[in-house]
Order: sequence, then structure tokens, then C-alpha cells
Amino acid sequence: MRPCIKTLLQKCAVFGLLFAVNLTALAQKLSVNDLKVEHLKNPLAIETPKPRFSWKIISTVKNTLQSSYEIRVGTSKASVNAGKDLVWKGSTTGDQSVLIEYAGSELQSKKRYYWQVRVKDNHGNTSAWSEPGLFQMGIAPTDWTAKWITVAGKDSSARSPLFRKEFSLQKKVKSAIAYITAKGLYEANINGQRVSDTYFAPGWTSYKDHLQYQVYDITAALKSGANVLGVSLGNGWYKGRIGFGNQHNFYGDTRGLLMQVEVEYTDGTKESINTDESWKYTYGPIMASDIYDGEIYDARMEIAGWNNTGFKEDAAWTAVGTMEKGTEKLVAMSGPPVRKHEQFKALKVFKTPAGETVVDFGQNLVGWVMLKAKGTAGTKITLSHAEVLTKEGNFYTVNLRSAKAQDTYILKENTEQVFEPHFTFQGFRYVKVEGYPGELKTEDLTAVAVYSDMETTGKFSTSNAMLNQLQHNIQWGQKGNFVDVPTDCPQRDERLGWTGDAQAFANTAAYNMDVAGFFTKWLKDVKTDQQPNGLIPHVIPNVLGPNDGASAGWADVSTIIPWDMYVAYGDRRILETQYESMQKWVGYISSVAKNNLWNSGFHFGDWLFYRPNDDNDGRAAVTDKYLIAQTFYAHSTQLLINAAKVLGKQDDVAKYTALLAEIKAAFVKEYMTPTGRLVSGTQTAYVLALHFDMLPEELRAPCAERLVANVRDYGNHLTTGFLGTPYLCHVLTRFGHNNVAYDLLMQESYPSWLYPVKMGATTIWERWDGIKPDGSFQTPDMNSYNHYAYGAIGDWMYRTIAGINSVADQPGYKSIVIAPKPGGKITNASAELETVYGTVKSAWTLENGLLKLDVTVPANTKAKIVLPDTTKEIGSGSYHFESKI
Ligand code: BGC
Repeated sequence: MRPCIKTLLQKCAVFGLLFAVNLTALAQKLSVNDLKVEHLKNPLAIETPKPRFSWKIISTVKNTLQSSYEIRVGTSKASVNAGKDLVWKGSTTGDQSVLIEYAGSELQSKKRYYWQVRVKDNHGNTSAWSEPGLFQMGIAPTDWTAKWITVAGKDSSARSPLFRKEFSLQKKVKSAIAYITAKGLYEANINGQRVSDTYFAPGWTSYKDHLQYQVYDITAALKSGANVLGVSLGNGWYKGRIGFGNQHNFYGDTRGLLMQVEVEYTDGTKESINTDESWKYTYGPIMASDIYDGEIYDARMEIAGWNNTGFKEDAAWTAVGTMEKGTEKLVAMSGPPVRKHEQFKALKVFKTPAGETVVDFGQNLVGWVMLKAKGTAGTKITLSHAEVLTKEGNFYTVNLRSAKAQDTYILKENTEQVFEPHFTFQGFRYVKVEGYPGELKTEDLTAVAVYSDMETTGKFSTSNAMLNQLQHNIQWGQKGNFVDVPTDCPQRDERLGWTGDAQAFANTAAYNMDVAGFFTKWLKDVKTDQQPNGLIPHVIPNVLGPNDGASAGWADVSTIIPWDMYVAYGDRRILETQYESMQKWVGYISSVAKNNLWNSGFHFGDWLFYRPNDDNDGRAAVTDKYLIAQTFYAHSTQLLINAAKVLGKQDDVAKYTALLAEIKAAFVKEYMTPTGRLVSGTQTAYVLALHFDMLPEELRAPCAERLVANVRDYGNHLTTGFLGTPYLCHVLTRFGHNNVAYDLLMQESYPSWLYPVKMGATTIWERWDGIKPDGSFQTPDMNSYNHYAYGAIGDWMYRTIAGINSVADQPGYKSIVIAPKPGGKITNASAELETVYGTVKSAWTLENGLLKLDVTVPANTKAKIVLPDTTKEIGSGSYHFESKI
């Protein structure tokens, strides 16, 4: 009886405690949560000496603003909770709750810190101290004691080496931290377990300049006595095939591993287990792995127990070689890690007319297939990947170009085995399976989506199912192409950080997911790979070699994304860090411009604009490339002025404002008639000229009319390519033609956003007609079914349909404008956005000419609600409005 009563009493006590905690929470009108450091929750690798702290304020009272905060940082939870032995104690009046810079004593390499915050509000409430959050400083360059290791001799095998080190821990472990990086990709294990759920580490950066390391808390994985570290390496972006022309070894021809495990015992003593000459290696079951081509895994080559203790056979393994460090700087990982996400069960296994066995997962996704199989040793199974089937229903891979995109598994014995690749990913909806022993069933395959672990921040839905599918496709375009760097496509022999695509999509991306860390990391590479003359290469990281020209709308990524991120997240430091690069880019254009006209060199132009096959009537929507270049010259200069204003660089503001006036004057002189007709009468020409304010005030409205006439002339179809598309509906809405914007959005025939939806797309296509109305395909040279650029309409959908907008002079949604503009026969729409201050909601229904709007505005922000018949200024809280429309 007794133990039972004891358990019961314990349960009651726990329940009572929970109850008490809940009551306290209820009684509290004000609390603080979601603590972040440098955009991340409890990060273990902070590079900057002055990390920044953010929190969210939760209040049960409307119109709540923070009036002051207190922050404290210490080296243990206990010290922070007690407010003793702090390294920083700050207390400030004001409503800043996002990205507050550390201002205490110098933070130490490798050290862990705890922090908490408490706030007061404008109603006189004080919150409790928040639960402590933590952050850990990265490792200073001088604190690396590990040596780079590699295979002995030349690293010429396609196989993945396995590195191993057994060691013994004599005392009780208090904490253990692993610092790991590699040239190539690594998969690290401790005592047979993966050290983390991160994939494609150390991530892709401009490796010749900087290489990221990851930090893992491995305390729980270690035990007293014998332990073992086992790491395998793949080629990845470093040494594998990347870029064009069968290019290998772009960053180097030797894979290498650097690992430092720092153990602290409970008695305060320390020990490090480092990569050095004492490690051994051999080759394992990964026979070849390559991002474009896939992986070959021979289970017969598995070495049982290799990454566990007590494995004696390593006596026969080879001693590792060591390698020089190289010129690269080691930097802490700053973006989110790549992780596994959604899993898709196979929908059906079927035979195609060509007799092939194909599996459909119902979603075009990026990642791989987990395959169960049982068969005699040596049985070889191949999985080939494809995005689409031909109109006859056959498996189609021609659009992957030279990417083999194939995983091969060779069975070891007649027991069930489960396979997944390690160092490759593919973009696919279908797989073709060859060599499967026995009958292939749907339960034998699961597709796993793999992408950067960005928090989902946006939700968007309407009464229109096709529009909802478009939103789904945009989100999946983002998932599939945000695999550590923003890529053009994830499936063919390309998968590169194309700058034009990224700048077109960045705003939409920032609605759907938290991309602050993701783009901060990538912008560092934009800056790194910028050429000394200011030119920005076409792809970042640049694996295509030096350019002798830069393309308008691509290279402008260097001004556009820093500004977009500033507006979305209120991150001033992004502007500080990128300012010089922004300035150099504008400087580059000025250096090649003549009489303030940027009218030379190579440009991609309005990539993939509408061009019918039979063009006798001159219907192709070709926009003069230099006209486009001039508008982006102006846009980049404007963004530079904006950044200079934020950073208080008054001289630059004056200088670039004068330059901008000249750029616009040169545009008007060269590309516009006195009545406002542009030399290219295309949608893109009018859109860019209007969106970037290139035209004299009085000619803007008439120009917008010309744009409308053009849209009508094409039967309410868009004709824009990568550069015009992101701004098309914005311009129409801005100039009072919201109905035309909706006509374009709701258009179901080619070219339009909903045409691919009608054709069954589950992601955004590279081309408006990737699959033509007759079911045939566009040219396989360039026909990806997962290219996010045209998904840039998502930005307009959040801003105009749902009406959620950030205001540039109060960035990060500190001040919000909620201005839904219904149209397109949509009867309801609802969106949510998790901003750095908290959740913004906007949901409306339209009934009998009455707009009913529900909004939620997070604490510490305010909002302007723009309704069809009135405008209201409100503070935080939830509200209901009704307005005649
Ligand atoms: C990519 C694009 C890219 C373009 C340059 C293509 O191969 O897939 O998305 O922007 O080249 O124009």
C-alpha cells in the first residue's frame, strides 16, 4: 500500500503545483516569453561579441506597450535567477524589445550564459522575470586545439571514409561540448548515435573565405569508461560536382574533418578529445555520393559496430593523414540547421505504359525516400527521381539534364533493411524503382522532406480553393529551395544560389517563415563573393568563377534583401553589416554607367517573360534590357539612401539623393516619350517604371492606365518574367486598379499563377507553361517544376488580400498597417503572421456588401486599420470591425 499512497501524494503535489503555476499565470496580466538571441532560441554558437536579445510580451490588457525593461545575464541559471554574479545588468526605459545589444563585460569564448528579462508596461504592470534563456559563445580561433584530419595519401576514392577514435572517461562528466566542421559534409556519431538531427553540416558558405562549424551539447551521449567518436564524410558542395561543366573539387580536392570535444568533469577538471594523428579510418558502405547524382550504398560493406565501443578490428584500419588548415576562417553557424520535416507515405505504386514501376508521393518535395527492403545479399535496388510524368503517364527525367538523381542500395542479407541516403538530396514527386526483390508495396517507401529549419510564421487561406493551393505551392517552393542556401531549383544539375530568384522571392519568404537567420547567413556570402570592383556574381556562393559583368535584377540582391530583412525583422545590424557592400554595388553601376545611364554589358533581362510560338503580331513581351537596368540602378540607389538614413549617414543621403535624381532624369530622357509612353510597351516596363518611381508625378496615373490597357489587351493575362512579376499586382493596387490585379490573380488560363494549379502543380514552376495546355513539356534545357521566383505573388496576397503590412520607418511590424482589399469573388480570407513582437491576425468575411474584419495586434505594437469606409488607429489586442464596401 505504502508506495502507492506515496505516489498518489506525489501526484497530488505535482498537480497542486501545476495548478498554482496556472493560477499565477492567470493572475499575471503581463509576461515575457519566446526569448531569442540573434534570432535563435538558445543558440550554442554565437559569433558576434555583442549578441542581441529579443523577447515577446504577452498581455491580457489592450493597448499594451512596454515602458521599460530589465535584463540580466550571468554564467549560471542560479546566478541569473538570484540576480547575483551577473556579467550584465541592464535597465532601460522605452519600448524596445527586439534585438537589444549586449553591453556587459566581455563575453568569453566557449562560455555558456543565461539571461532573463522582466518588463513594465504603460498600465503600471510589471511582469515576473522570464524563464532564463541561454546562449553560448562560439570558439575563438586560438582555442582550436584539434588538427584537421583526412585520409592517408590522396583523397581520390569516391567512397566515404569513416573516421574513428575510442577514448575513456575516468571521472563523472559535468558537461561535454563538441565543435565540429568538415571540408565536405560530415555525419558524426557518439557511441553509435548521431550527435544531432542536423543534415548537410557544416552547410554551404563561400568556403574559400569562411567555413562554419557546429556546436553540440553531447553531455547526455557520453558515459563513464569507454566512448567512441565515429564520423563519416561526403563530398558535398566542397568537393563534389557543383556548377556547370562537370565541375568537381571547386573548393578543394581533399575532404577533411576537424572535431574538438571538450569535457568538463564534476570536479572542475577538463579534458579534450580532438581529431589528431591518433585517429584511424577506413572506407564504409557509401560507395559514392554526390548532390546532383545521388548515392550508392552497399550494405555488404557495412562494418558492424564501427562507431561503437569495443570494436577491435580497427587495429587493421589506417592511420589518418593530417592536413593544413587552409586560408578559410572558421565561423560559428549562424543560420538554422537543415533538418528532416514532413514525411509522405507513398500514395500508389503503379506500372507506367513503358512498363516501369513508379511510386507517387502526391507532392513535389525535396529530400529523399526511406526504403524498406528484404532480399538476398547483392540484390541491387535503384531509385530514380522525377517531378512529373509525361502526358502518356511515363516517368520523365529529361528536365534534370545531367543530374543522375539516383540512389542505389545493395542488400547485405535476407533480413529487412531500411535505407536512406546521407549526403545527397533530390527534388521529386515520383520515384522509379528497379530491382526491388518481391512485390513493392506502398508501405515500403516514405518520402522525407528536408530543408532549413525555419519556424513557420505565416498562415494564409481564403474561400478560393485554387488560391489556397497556390499558397501551398509557394510554401513548398520555399521548403524545397531553402536547403541552407536559397537555390533556383533543387533537382537538376544546378541547385545554385541564383541571386535574381532570391531577391524576387525574399519578401514572400519572410511572410511564410522566419528567414532572418537564413538570409543573414547568406548575405555574408553575398558580401564575401562580391568582386573588388563591387560587382555581384550571378550565384552565391559563387561557383561559376569571376564575372566580367553583372546583371540588373540579379546583382541588386545586395541592396534588396538587406532592406527587406530590415523591414521584416527590424534588424538594423543587417544594414550596418551590408552597407559597404550595398554602396560598392551602386558604385559599380555608377562606374559602368555613362551620363548616368546603365546601358551596357550583359543582362538576363525579364527572364522567362511571355513569348508565344507564333509571334507574327509581335505579342512577345520583350522589355529592353537597358531600360530594366536603369530602373534597378534607381531602386538600388533608393535602398542605399534608405539604409543611409537608418544608419544616420547624412552625407551619403545627400550624395545618393542627388545621384538618384540624375538616374531618373536620364531614364525619362532615354526611355520615355513626353506623354509617358515607354520604349518598351510591356507590362514589365510599366511595372518597373511605376514601382520604382521613375516617372514624373503627373505621368504616373496615365502610365498605370497604359499598364491596365496592356493587361486587358492580353485578355487579363500577365506577360511578365522574373523581374516584372513580383511587383505587377502591387503596382496595379497602388494606382487604384485592384480589380485588375485580382483579374490577373484569378486567371486560370496560361499565362497566369493559377494555370499551373489547374494543371495539378504542387510547387511553383520555373515557367508559366512548364506543362503546356496540350500536356506536352517546355524545353527540357530549362524546365524545373520547383522554382520559387513566380511565387513572389505571395507577398501581394499577404499584403493586399489579408492586408498585413510592415511599415519601413517602424520596421519589424512595430507599427502595422492592416488594410485588406477584397476582390476576385473571394468571400473570406484569413492570415496570421508571427512577427518578432508576436502574432498579427487579419481575418475577414464579406456578406451582402458588409466587410467583417477580425484583427489581433500583438503587445508592444500598434496598428492602423484601413477599412473601405474609415481608418482607425489601435493598440494591441483583438478587435472586430464592420465596414460597408
Ligand atoms: C536559373 C534561374 C536563374 C537563371 C539566370 C537559370 O538557369 O535556373 O532561375 O536566375 O538561370 O537567368
